[in-house]
Amino acid sequence: MDPDPPAKAPVRRKRTKPLRLLHFTDPHLYGDAGGRLRGVSTLDSLKCCVAHARQHHFPADAVLLTGDLVHDDARGYGHFSSVFDALRAPVHVLAGNHDLPREMQLRLASRPFDLAPIVRYRDWVIFLLDSVVPGATHGHLGDETLAFVDEGLARHSDAHALVCVHHHPVPMGSEWIDGIGIDNAGRLLEVLDRHDNVRGLLWGHVHQASDGMRENVAMMSTPSTCVQFLPASDEFAIDERPPGYRWLHLYPDGRIDTRVEWVEPEG
Ligand SMILES: [Fe+2]
Repeated sequence: MDPDPPAKAPVRRKRTKPLRLLHFTDPHLYGDAGGRLRGVSTLDSLKCCVAHARQHHFPADAVLLTGDLVHDDARGYGHFSSVFDALRAPVHVLAGNHDLPREMQLRLASRPFDLAPIVRYRDWVIFLLDSVVPGATHGHLGDETLAFVDEGLARHSDAHALVCVHHHPVPMGSEWIDGIGIDNAGRLLEVLDRHDNVRGLLWGHVHQASDGMRENVAMMSTPSTCVQFLPASDEFAIDERPPGYRWLHLYPDGRIDTRVEWVEPEG
């Protein structure tokens, strides 16, 4: 009689697949589906960006939507289901200075939308920090928010972290824009510097793309899905660049692969 076959050792494969994210920001929707910001139909341009992402970067594990969802018009929230439901991916939402946070919470209260300030995906933890000052254009991080991210980074020290915020936490090299960033950004950077698991900082608000590094942390801004602002201009100026969005691949070893896509409007 044959001896029992040796028990198979469990095969532990190291996970190498990235977490795939799509980042859309500053869509500035109106209640009127034809509403335009500086000549751009904001709902149409958001739809074009999402369609481009579906065609080129799908499937994705999650979507990040980091503020100025509407342009001071609560009825604008009514369009988000029609744009995002079909993606069948969770949509993590953060408010911007043009949002109406109470209305946003009411209108985006159910799936696929998620307003939680922290979410864990496998080897990664994502923070969505509220920087809105009611009635103001610039941003500020309250003591509670700073304590929240400090404590969360410690609690998830086994994960790599991506921190998202609406307003910019570093100067963009543009005088008018740098007057409307986070007025106490230094405190956020101090908190992040205390933790060695922070891999990326991601924001909207500035309607322009930028990619840099700070102390091994990827610093990323994503263009708006509608109108862009001219980089490096000390006075307010519109850029002619088309709508855009960003894809990010977050790897189990902490690496971030990312690129901005510019989407030429149809027709
Ligand atoms: Fe905006």
